[in-house]
Amino acid sequence: MEHVLGIDIGATGMKGAIVDIETGELVTERIKLPTPHPATPESMIDPFLDLIKTHNWSGIIGCGFPSIIKNGTALTASNIDKSWINTNVEDCFEKASGLKVNVVNDADAAGLAEVHFGAGKGMSGCILLITIGSGLGSALIYNGQIVPNTEFGHIFLKGQTQVAEKYASNNARKLHNLEWDEWGKRFNEFLLQVERIILPDQIILGGGISKRFDLYKEYIDIQIPVSPASMLNNAGIAGAALFAHQKQLKLFS
Ligand code: BGC
Repeated sequence: MEHVLGIDIGATGMKGAIVDIETGELVTERIKLPTPHPATPESMIDPFLDLIKTHNWSGIIGCGFPSIIKNGTALTASNIDKSWINTNVEDCFEKASGLKVNVVNDADAAGLAEVHFGAGKGMSGCILLITIGSGLGSALIYNGQIVPNTEFGHIFLKGQTQVAEKYASNNARKLHNLEWDEWGKRFNEFLLQVERIILPDQIILGGGISKRFDLYKEYIDIQIPVSPASMLNNAGIAGAALFAHQKQLKLFS
């Protein structure tokens, strides 16, 4: 049985657990530490090391990170400190921990987990996962393979005046005190724009409010079938661990 430590870094929390790569199950309790503010490379090292220490871990680590990630380097920083831009996240955490760290975009990690272990398991073709949280993340998966670093949450809405995630994320819902119908309609405006540019076979909605799908599903009115994710807050952790595992396999094959 193969185990990997998965760490999911978001704007509000840094979560970690040891993951069984065969099943995607968390074999330890999920630990959540608050993301420091400002969320800089320097401030985030301590909680990252704490997660390793709490799990008594000395193997490889998979880490989901809320940025476009190219060869381990963060190219964007919408919901964390801008000083991450052009920082090699893998080097940063590897130097601090002395362990091998594989970093992947957080939504891509969640998408990988949902198609392997969750709501997208057994589905073929093209699946788009949208994570609804502080931002709007996206993962495009074709026959089980991630097309990395899609950023559908950054398309413009309202006549090019609003970035989608500032208008229709869960943060936007809370910030503007939106009722479910108001938010649901906003989210549907976003989905209509997504549908203009891509036609996946299925859209899966992830993030904390995927479990409240019943409260807004009636406002979703697009052609593409839409369903909620099933792994809730564990998808990011399990997917990051799976990503690291797959990367190691490729290195040694
Ligand atoms: C970032 C994405 C990330 C998403 C969810 C967005 O602001 O641009 O890279 O996946 O937030 O954390």
